[in-house]
Amino acid sequence: MNDILNQISSRIEKIENQNRKRNVGKITSLADGVAHLDGLSEAMYNEMISFKDGVFGIALNLAEDEVGCILLGDALNLKEGDEGRTTGKLLSVPVGKNLLGRVVDVLGRPLDGKGDILAEEFYPVEKIAPGILPRRSVNQPLQTGILEIDSMIPIGRGQRELIIGDRCTGKTSIALDAIINQARINKEGLASADPSFRPVYSIYVAIGQKNANIARTIQLLEKHGAMEYTIIVAASASENAANLYIAPYSGCAMGEWFMQNGMDAFVVYDDLSKHAAAYRQVSLLLKRPSGREAYPGDVFYLHSRLLERAARLNDDNGGGSLTALPIIETQQGDVSAYIPTNVISITDGQIFLETDLFNQGVRPAISVGISVSRVGSSAQLKAFKQVAGKLKGEYAQYKELAAFAQFGSDLDARTKSIIDKGDRLVEILKQTNNSPKNVEIEIAVLWALQNGYFENIPVEKISDAERSLENYASTRGKETIEKILKEKSISEELSAELKSMCDQWRKTFA
Ligand SMILES: Nc1ncnc2c1ncn2[C@@H]1O[C@H](COP(=O)(O)OP(=O)(O)O)[C@@H](O)[C@H]1O
Ligand SMILES: [Mg+2]
Repeated sequence: MNDILNQISSRIEKIENQNRKRNVGKITSLADGVAHLDGLSEAMYNEMISFKDGVFGIALNLAEDEVGCILLGDALNLKEGDEGRTTGKLLSVPVGKNLLGRVVDVLGRPLDGKGDILAEEFYPVEKIAPGILPRRSVNQPLQTGILEIDSMIPIGRGQRELIIGDRCTGKTSIALDAIINQARINKEGLASADPSFRPVYSIYVAIGQKNANIARTIQLLEKHGAMEYTIIVAASASENAANLYIAPYSGCAMGEWFMQNGMDAFVVYDDLSKHAAAYRQVSLLLKRPSGREAYPGDVFYLHSRLLERAARLNDDNGGGSLTALPIIETQQGDVSAYIPTNVISITDGQIFLETDLFNQGVRPAISVGISVSRVGSSAQLKAFKQVAGKLKGEYAQYKELAAFAQFGSDLDARTKSIIDKGDRLVEILKQTNNSPKNVEIEIAVLWALQNGYFENIPVEKISDAERSLENYASTRGKETIEKILKEKSISEELSAELKSMCDQWRKTFA
């Protein structure tokens, strides 16, 4: 390990020394964001090459007589014969809080017309992930505000959780809800007197999406007051593949700054399928040999070195964290394709979305049976575990029995009660997008379910009942549910208080 680090730092040093020996080359061929140059004998791997009009490239192929280089930014005006110069620098992006509220390109340059960004620092976009020693296991939850996720597939700060599903199954919506929820919590938490409160900053990396979609995302985040805690890195479908390839690494570097400075951040890569396709394109243009599904042989490493950079640092290293939510778009639900299996194996779990559920109106369309979070439950609030610990098992049992019960009419009492409760759970878990819930509300609703308060309400009235309970709990029951947050677990006294709150509520809901 140390050997590798030494090698890398000496390589960086070497590159810095190159400042003395810059040289100039000429473009010999140019296509789709990839240029080949001759005369750059001093170029180093991953070094920034500067062209006219503020276009930068990165030297990726160092052959004996030519250098293959991907071009970032708007490279349309470049042509064969133009000059490229070595800069002696590794590709770096501006980092720091001044980027919050901004929309930037893969080099961290503003795209939102809101003026220059004063960067405190620059970070290299490619960096070795923290080793094992500075890390600790996740111990703090990242509340998404989506009841189904927070209860059954909980995410911890520093975790990597994949969101996977076909197009239009609500993948982006889940990620955006999580961002909106952080902003909501930040506003309340920062205004509160709680000195231990730690805000979570978000970075949303849009890879290969249509400009109209990106614009809609910005609008949505602005509408919910979330932009002030968010950085958007955009490499749209109209940009060349090189930009798409670099985008997640840029976003990751911006997130790392928060982690390295003792803060919490989380980064969404939307999506890594398009990222892999862009890398495939770049690699083919660089004439690298292709392998399975025409992806280059190192496509696994492409995503593992990115996702390994998410971490929870221990207190000696500032205690910061970077959580990653990569998104993968599948074709016809095929999770066994090359890129999906790669990313599933790199992450700590996956949230699997299904078109059928989505079309049936079960939204978020999460397939609970095959969705998991392998580390998050150790970060889940104790109170949450108390009400949701058995939920996943109950849900699985319900699914099995419900499928069976379709064919028979007379059910024994126990089976019927499991199915009745499951039907109500399914309704309670339905949640429209852009409406994340407070964690104490989530816990109170599940407590009510577990204690039979939804039993006598017809299934088609459950969502009304839930809304009504949420209203009641956040107004007249406010003191009670705030205790859930303060005490973090549900004691017997608190249980009694929740009972009297629910009894009162039940009288108001006819
Ligand atoms: N929980 C939800 N409830 C209702 N509509 C939703 C929900 N989640 C997503 N949608 C809607 O479904 C559409 C597709 O969602 P999106 O997140 O863009 O899917 P994907 O990223 O998987 O393509 C959008 O119009 C979105 O508003
Ligand atoms: Mg999407």
